Amino acid sequence: NEKFDYLIVGAGLFGAVFAHEAALKGKKVKVIEKRDHIAGNIYTKEVAGIQVHQYGAHIFHTSDRAIWNYVNQFAEFNRYTNTPVANYHGEMYNLPFNMNTFNKLWGVRTPQEAAQKIQEQRDAAKISGQPRNLEEQAITLIGTDIYEKLIKGYTEKQWGQKATELPAFIIRRLPVRYTYDNNYFNDTYQGIPIGGYTQIVAKMLDHPNIDVETNMDFFARKAEYLADYPKVVFTGMIDQFFDYQLGELAYRSLRFETETLPVDNYQGNAVINYTDAETPFTRIIEHKHFEFGKGDDNQTVITKEYPVDWKRGDEPYYPVNNQTNNNLYKQYAKLGAKQDQIIFGGRLGQYRYYDMHQVIHAALVTVKAEFESGK
Ligand code: FDA
Repeated sequence: NEKFDYLIVGAGLFGAVFAHEAALKGKKVKVIEKRDHIAGNIYTKEVAGIQVHQYGAHIFHTSDRAIWNYVNQFAEFNRYTNTPVANYHGEMYNLPFNMNTFNKLWGVRTPQEAAQKIQEQRDAAKISGQPRNLEEQAITLIGTDIYEKLIKGYTEKQWGQKATELPAFIIRRLPVRYTYDNNYFNDTYQGIPIGGYTQIVAKMLDHPNIDVETNMDFFARKAEYLADYPKVVFTGMIDQFFDYQLGELAYRSLRFETETLPVDNYQGNAVINYTDAETPFTRIIEHKHFEFGKGDDNQTVITKEYPVDWKRGDEPYYPVNNQTNNNLYKQYAKLGAKQDQIIFGGRLGQYRYYDMHQVIHAALVTVKAEFESGK
């Protein structure tokens, strides 16, 4: 039997960065993945000549040059800029909230006119003192029109709760821009890898010191794995690792409905958010627009994204980072810290809503700590 230095549970971005860096240090690494493919939630697959994001729209963005250079080793990125559009009962608005949105809503033309309109709506709402819930918080920040048309329905669908029952902290800040700029992110670097995301993880894992096994769930033979491997990097759910002994952490899940349609251009944009309460999905992604219309003529692939209440066995796409869950996570992290053999990493292992650049950063910090301590 080959001797491995590390077992990595999960072939997502965190696991792949760790595996890659460990292999470069001469360590032997075994990666197991319960799905039938690598790359975790950044997995993309070619359909009709288009890279389809199988687990929701993924746009890479960062202001950290080192992370941008790091990821560019594994793919060339295009110049895609995220400019989502909102559909509210057929009315189309640019996002994030900016002068284009304000002009469409109210006919205002200057930043001064827009700011005045928002101030009037805040004043009219007469919310005094600390906002007690998400609704009050949103209206305090941006006024009633934008709240009613662009925030309320979308947020209620996403969380499965009324805005008046959701905590205010979910939207401490709202991106508001008094310029005619539809670029969603403020970061210096942004793009989509030409040829998709899967190649990034595939290249990270393509090393003679790395062995990858898909369709293998850690929990199918947890005891043997812990006995056989000196070190384990675990990127699954930390509460599941500890057999939910302190209770369940909360997650939100999603259902993706993907279809190929016999048209060239279905919606004219990569991402359209449906911000009313009646439409059951939150957004439709048209994948070819991530790559400027590449792909077969007269065909397009779209994905509808439906929010779903999470229960055991479902994919845990989003941690629900409220006070209760964060406190519970801290208790699990304490249990984790007592186990020298295990490193918990990634979105599920650290119960944190990490974007891709943050996951890469976190993995590189973990690698550094691991190898500097001379283990
Ligand atoms: P990830 O979940 O990808 O990987 C963990 C892997 O471990 C999975 O493959 C899982 O199957 C496996 N696993 C779990 N338990 C296991 C077990 N018991 N045994 C074996 N394997 C197990 N970020 C961004 O920068 N820009 C964006 O636009 C978006 N958009 C976006 C949309 C949606 C809908 C989601 C859900 C997420 C995003 N993200 C994003 C975030 C991005 O997906 C995220 O940062 C990374 O995929 C996280 O990588 P991890 O390796 O931490 O987790």
